[in-house]
Amino acid sequence: MPGRVLLSAALLFIHHCHSLIPNVLLQKQASAIPSFDWRSIQPSTDLAYHDCYGDFQCARLTVPLDWNNSSNPNNISLAVIRLPATVPDDDPSHGGSIIFNPGGPGGPGTLSVLVVAHDIQRRLDGDKHYEIVSFDPRGVFMSTPNAYCFDDYAESEIWWREKRAAGNLDSGEAVIRYHWAMENARGELCASTDIGAFSNGDNLRNHLSTAYVARDVLELVHKIDEQKRDATGVQHLPDVQQAMQNHAKAMRSAKLQYIGVSYGTFLGQTFAAMYPEHVGRMALDSNLDADNWVSLYEASVDDHEAIRDYFFERCFIGGAKCALWRTGDQSPQDVRNRFDVVYASLEESPAVISGQGHAKVLKSDELQWAFLMASYQPISLFNIFADAMNDLYLGSRSALPFWQHVLPTGNSFYDEVLEHQIRGSDVTAAIHCSDGLDLSGSNFTEYKSYLANLTSRFPHAGALQAEFKLPCWTWPEPLRTKWRYDGPFNASVPILFVNNRLDTATPLKYAVKMAERFNGSAVLVHDNVGHGALWPAGDCMWDYVRKYMDGGTLPPNGTVCKSPCEAFAHGCADELANEAMPLFAGF
Ligand SMILES: *[C@@H]1O[C@H](CO)[C@@H](O)[C@H](O)[C@H]1NC(C)=O
Ligand SMILES: *[C@@H]1O[C@H](CO)[C@@H](O)[C@H](O)[C@H]1NC(C)=O
Ligand SMILES: *[C@@H]1O[C@H](CO)[C@@H](O)[C@H](O)[C@H]1NC(C)=O
Ligand SMILES: *[C@@H]1O[C@H](CO)[C@@H](O)[C@H](O)[C@H]1NC(C)=O
Ligand SMILES: *[C@@H]1O[C@H](CO)[C@@H](O)[C@H](O)[C@H]1NC(C)=O
Ligand SMILES: *[C@@H]1O[C@H](CO)[C@@H](O)[C@H](O)[C@H]1NC(C)=O
Ligand SMILES: *[C@@H]1O[C@H](CO)[C@@H](O)[C@H](O)[C@H]1NC(C)=O
Ligand SMILES: *[C@@H]1O[C@H](CO)[C@@H](O)[C@H](O)[C@H]1NC(C)=O
Repeated sequence: MPGRVLLSAALLFIHHCHSLIPNVLLQKQASAIPSFDWRSIQPSTDLAYHDCYGDFQCARLTVPLDWNNSSNPNNISLAVIRLPATVPDDDPSHGGSIIFNPGGPGGPGTLSVLVVAHDIQRRLDGDKHYEIVSFDPRGVFMSTPNAYCFDDYAESEIWWREKRAAGNLDSGEAVIRYHWAMENARGELCASTDIGAFSNGDNLRNHLSTAYVARDVLELVHKIDEQKRDATGVQHLPDVQQAMQNHAKAMRSAKLQYIGVSYGTFLGQTFAAMYPEHVGRMALDSNLDADNWVSLYEASVDDHEAIRDYFFERCFIGGAKCALWRTGDQSPQDVRNRFDVVYASLEESPAVISGQGHAKVLKSDELQWAFLMASYQPISLFNIFADAMNDLYLGSRSALPFWQHVLPTGNSFYDEVLEHQIRGSDVTAAIHCSDGLDLSGSNFTEYKSYLANLTSRFPHAGALQAEFKLPCWTWPEPLRTKWRYDGPFNASVPILFVNNRLDTATPLKYAVKMAERFNGSAVLVHDNVGHGALWPAGDCMWDYVRKYMDGGTLPPNGTVCKSPCEAFAHGCADELANEAMPLFAGF
């Protein structure tokens, strides 16, 4: 669940959690992102790159709104970005393009590569040198039109805050009814807004599922391939017919090289199932169970309790590195007791936090979200979370910075990146609801039993997961996608599946399951906790990825790499923090 504020490797899930990420982290990232005026580029059916963001290049690619109807006149434009390889295009050691998707759904690829592309390039640099490409999927960020529903981010934020203030979905019937009504209100807005609507009555939201995105990716692969051939002059053959035959042949053989994270694994699995003949190399990190995703999304937080145990254990081992630890603690249970005290006291009455121009209260519901968020990246976030918990334990007002919402503070409210991230949760819903079952005929009672099922199985995270899926129950029927791919998710293509041992949103067992579907695939396990097994990771993980990208060699299925770092360990967090997945807030 992508969060508005920071997005760990994947936007998956965070959007519910948007207020909980430390302000400091977000501001650092937002200010690190230079600006670029995408409107200065004329959209084109050719991949015409323009310099942007320093050493990057940007293009706007025109594609049909409706891949299934060639008489549909409407087009959309996709924002595409690349970091060229460190060698010229015609150098024999040029490894081609690797397309990266950061997750979401609805993660802005163009922003995420600004943060990760140099790392990926450096990690893979060896016998071959790769160009790193990404794009904003249709409806997202700089791709036009957008699929936002609210006119502006203040409206979006107010809606979100009112919903959040009502409490989490495990707080009783009245709260569930309130969230249900709020989602209905947003759904109605999505159906009536001009944003994403075309003059002939078409609506972008009818064309937003992952199947469309996979087809867009295929187009991008074709364009990249075409450009490569143009560069090498192949199309200038004197014989036109021969040239056309060559072109058709090349179209059939263009291959995707891909790294996808979180929801990006679903995009990868979908692409591989739909277009197996176009799969070159595919490394999928933090894997969704595709069958689960296209049905009711009834699992994904399976590791939550184990990750809580890991927090208490690591805090106990970390000693003075963890603010919630005390001299004389005998076991992780002592840490857990303090955690429980804070939780229980907030259950009884919210903490009052004020200062720096803010006044707010903190309920136990927010702790649920905060822990979920922190568990996306234990190495960089558990210690901050422990500090904030300890402040609450001591009743100290210094807790404010952690809980302070990033938005309503001064300039950040006008930050374009934040604006898009905040409104992006509308797009997240549009995409994952399109991918899933049509629930427009289902009622409130049925939703409640779905919720009850999740909360009984996952007492501390089930309600948060159910929140993610709620907009799909209330999604307006007229916006239902016209095309989705719901399986089978299998093909005879060898994919490298990577996953952490414990993952907040995508348990390892899904990587194992999906690897069995794609003949010849293997699972590479990172002995780490969090969402995103390559961010951060040491040489062991990246060496395997590089060998696979370079020559197709997979590690033996089930290979495990030790993590170079653990939460609350001495001296490693800073060093690796730079390689953490961008905390783009997911919306
Ligand atoms: C859209 O086209 C694809 C092939 O490109 C086909 O598999 C799919 O069934 C079509 N969907 C619809 C709704 O026509
Ligand atoms: C295809 O698009 C044309 C033009 O918008 C429209 O008239 C027609 O009904 C569409 N066909 C289908 C099958 O949606
Ligand atoms: C959509 O793009 C196609 C291909 O470039 C073009 O022929 C068509 O005119 C475009 N449609 C609109 C409405 O601009
Ligand atoms: C909700 O749907 C279920 C299953 O279709 C049905 O049995 C039930 O009567 C419905 N409840 C209401 C309140 O409409
Ligand atoms: C939750 O739903 C799943 C799938 O429908 C079902 O297999 C399981 O028994 C349910 N669990 C509970 C506790 O209701
Ligand atoms: C994929 O699954 C379908 C349905 O189970 C099966 O018919 C097909 O042969 C499978 N394809 C591959 C490549 O395994
Ligand atoms: C990989 O190993 C796991 C056990 O660790 C096994 O369950 C799975 O079937 C294997 N997958 C493949 C693709 O060989
Ligand atoms: C892929 O693996 C499945 C399951 O092991 C098997 O049934 C199928 O024949 C294989 N397909 C190919 C093309 O090797």
